[in-house]
Amino acid sequence: MAMIALKCPDSRVTVVDMNAARIAAWNSNSLPIYEPGLDDVVKQARGRNLFFSTEVAAEIKKADIIFVAVNTPTKSYGVGQGRAADLRYIESVARTIAEHAQGDKIIVEKSTIPVKTAEAIKTILANNSNGLKCAVLSNPEFLAEGTAIKDLENPDRVLIGGERTPEGEKAVATLAGVYGRWVPRDRIITTNLWSSELSKLVANAFLAQRISSINSISALCEATGADVDEVAFAIGKDSRIGPKFLKASVGFGGSCFQKDILNLTYLCESFGLPEVAAYWTSVVGINDWQKRRFAARIVKELFNTVADKKIAVLGFAFKKDTNDTRESAAINVCRDLLAEHANVCVYDPKVPADEIRRDVLNGAADNPRLTVAKDAYSACAGAHAIAIITEWDEFKTLDYARIYAGMPKPAFLFDGRNIVDLAALRKIGFKASGIGRA
Ligand SMILES: NC(=O)c1ccc[n+]([C@@H]2O[C@H](COP(=O)([O-])OP(=O)(O)OC[C@H]3O[C@@H](n4cnc5c(N)ncnc54)[C@H](O)[C@@H]3O)[C@@H](O)[C@H]2O)c1
Repeated sequence: MAMIALKCPDSRVTVVDMNAARIAAWNSNSLPIYEPGLDDVVKQARGRNLFFSTEVAAEIKKADIIFVAVNTPTKSYGVGQGRAADLRYIESVARTIAEHAQGDKIIVEKSTIPVKTAEAIKTILANNSNGLKCAVLSNPEFLAEGTAIKDLENPDRVLIGGERTPEGEKAVATLAGVYGRWVPRDRIITTNLWSSELSKLVANAFLAQRISSINSISALCEATGADVDEVAFAIGKDSRIGPKFLKASVGFGGSCFQKDILNLTYLCESFGLPEVAAYWTSVVGINDWQKRRFAARIVKELFNTVADKKIAVLGFAFKKDTNDTRESAAINVCRDLLAEHANVCVYDPKVPADEIRRDVLNGAADNPRLTVAKDAYSACAGAHAIAIITEWDEFKTLDYARIYAGMPKPAFLFDGRNIVDLAALRKIGFKASGIGRA
């Protein structure tokens, strides 16, 4: 929404959220999300044509176009538990719109939702007594956290799904006109509603599948002495495969990949396609296995016991350049190490200590074995091993000789992202290994 406000200075954009603390943060100098370039965009537009408010009903009344971007987490109860999308927030927004909106509105599904959700939204909206007439569009978001501003400024494509009726096509053209202010027309794709909704789930499933594919090969590389980075480079040169999303790692995280694949598998089963569901379920299975495998390798190499040993965990966000920790591999690795009675000391440049504790402990009683350091050097001081979980740039340029000097010997380093030079570390004296590398 901040990017739309920046690119369309003659449109008024108001972001509403029922979470007052979040809105207060958006109105402050310390935004609730860390994202490179976002501060600048917000500062340019905020107060000019970009506003943040908790006045949900009043702003619904004023708006011509309403983007629905509420959370759609995996359902944690009832039918579809653990896989289906929980649509309660979507439904509650639809009801709020039906209650307060009047006249002609365009409702845009921005959240990632299962196929045919627009139909449910339309039914709820049709049951209003305000003379409200809505066109419902699907406009899934393809930005990636960490590169969101670049992705929004220069998207590979913008996808707009709408009904193939004169009203639907008019609404699609209106929304295409908004993006058309800065996105070349040939990158604005229009489809029917269901194709658009499904495309988002499928895009995430394909991206995650590439990661699980290369991660499965990383295990074979470790067993055989091949180097997964070399294999990835070699296969990525094939133009049919391409080089992106072939980086072996401790596993994908983030709020979307796992949730969207699980949602896709649930859809497949609901439509009587258990074989298709099983195929995509295995992508999540390999990811879970990869996270466990990484922690198990640490234990194994540390002579099968990490009890009372200090392990430094560098990075906690699910990837670099974000403070988002949802489904981060670091959570699983920390839990597995704590279960082995290791003393785990975490450092992340952007994730606050209380967030780290909340994520790892997940409501359990505080565990004194879990500590959070203010910088990488103090996290590593006295540690038997270092585990790099997030590919933050600062971990590439640490003074590893200094770190090595302050560790009991033998000192181990496990690079879960393959970002540091293992040969150079070994020269220093580290017993160093990466994912899919000897
Ligand atoms: N995070 C991403 O990178 C990303 C990328 C593409 C798509 N998506 C999709 O976008 C959606 C939102 O993701 P997110 O990461 O921003 O989630 P989030 O949980 O960070 O934010 C959702 C917000 O919606 C608010 N909300 C919920 N119900 C509300 C209601 N009835 N009225 C007003 N506000 C309400 C919540 O308070 C919360 O602040 C999801 O469907 C997600 O799959 C996210």
